[in-house]
Order: sequence, then C-alpha cells, then structure tokens
Amino acid sequence: MKFFVDSANVEDIREMAATGLIDGVTTNPTFVAKSGRPILELIGEICAAVEGPVSAEVAATSTDEMIREGLILGSVAPNVAIKLPLTWDGLKACKVLTASHGLMVNVTLCFSANQALMAAKAGATFVSPFVGRLDDLNIDGLELIHEIRAIYDNYDALQTEILCASVRTPNHVKAVALAGADVVTLPPEVFPKLVEHPLTEKGLAAFMADWEAGGQSIEAPEPAVPGIKLDRGAGKA
Ligand code: G3P
Repeated sequence: MKFFVDSANVEDIREMAATGLIDGVTTNPTFVAKSGRPILELIGEICAAVEGPVSAEVAATSTDEMIREGLILGSVAPNVAIKLPLTWDGLKACKVLTASHGLMVNVTLCFSANQALMAAKAGATFVSPFVGRLDDLNIDGLELIHEIRAIYDNYDALQTEILCASVRTPNHVKAVALAGADVVTLPPEVFPKLVEHPLTEKGLAAFMADWEAGGQSIEAPEPAVPGIKLDRGAGKA
C-alpha cells in the first residue's frame, strides 16, 4: 500500500518525506486556503519536496472551467494529480484531462460504489472515498472500500487506484489495508501512531538496560596488522 500525506503544510510534508516512507501528497481547497499562500506557488513547492503524485484540487464546478483550471494546475509540475469532485461535470472533465491531455486525475469526495465505478469509467488515476466522513454519519466507510475493491477487481479495464481519504486513526489504516486499498492518505500526526506500541518501548528499554549492564560496545575490530584495513568485499577473493 502507498502512503500519502494529507496536508498542504510544506514543513510537515518535508519532514515526512525525509523518512523515505512517503509516496505522495493530497491537498484540498480547505488546506490551501488555510495556508494563506497562492496555490500555484504552494503546489510547486510541494511537488519539489515529494517525488510522487501531489493532488491539487480545482475550485471550478463546471466541466469547461474544471478543464481550464486543471490544465493550469497540471502545468505546475509533472507529478501534479488534478483533483476533481465526483460530479457529472467532474467526470466529464476527468475524461478530457486523462484521455486528451495524459494528466493524472484524482476524483475526490467519493461516497458510493457506483460513484467509484463511474470515476474508473472516466479514466481517473485515483478515486478518493472518504472513510471518516461516512463513519461520522454512522455509515460503514470500510464497507465502501471493500465494495470498490471487489468491483474494480472484476474488470481488468478498470485501472483506477483506490486512494482512501478522510482516514483519521491507525485502526482505519489497518482496515483499509485489509480491504485492499492501493493508497491511504493520512494527516501527518497519524503516521507516528502507526509505529508506536508500549510493549516495543518496554522491550527496547529492557534490552538497552541489559546491554549496558554487560558493559560492552560494538566497535570495528583492530586490524591484525597495523595499517591494513579490513575489506569486507562481497565475496571478493
Ligand atoms: O483531504 C480530504 C480528506 O482526507 C479530508 O479528511 O478528516 O476532513 O474528512 P477529513
């Protein structure tokens, strides 16, 4: 599964990218508005910070305007994925931007399997089902991921990747991975929680205490003959 950062905070994105564990970024109009920065400048900086796809969302709602804005966003960097809402106009724009312009498109605000089916039909690179916002309404967001996975797996022609969004907890991450999602996009603060476990911390502390008590350290061995450096060549004679 690929991991994207769900943020437009460049510092947070840079910090996550430095781990080598990040495969892309998703932004949205709320994140961009909160940044207070011009969208083209902001997206350009994010695209330079991360090699993978960077989703940048249009603000238009009509097909022609979405295409116009999408072409502008797509011109910022080769790794821009144009984010379009899952509406009739958004799908028509998706078809044009992918088929005629060869651009990546992330169709977002997906809340049903039929919506995801139509996004794939429109040639979307990614579809973004919002798990958390369904859960907020006491609707099983994970069931949607299972449904989309099953539908896409029925047809080789449907190559759209399931990019799970509105994912807020480690349990969400495990659940979407079990459901076979291709990508999960996470707020920066969720990533460390995927790794933290009290038994790991307790076990490591015990190992270190015992090692300290043993009084030794791990150092390069002294050369048998002073000045002769050990060469651990790969099986060299
Ligand atoms: O960026 C889209 C999505 O991830 C937003 O998540 O928590 O606002 O529903 P959330």
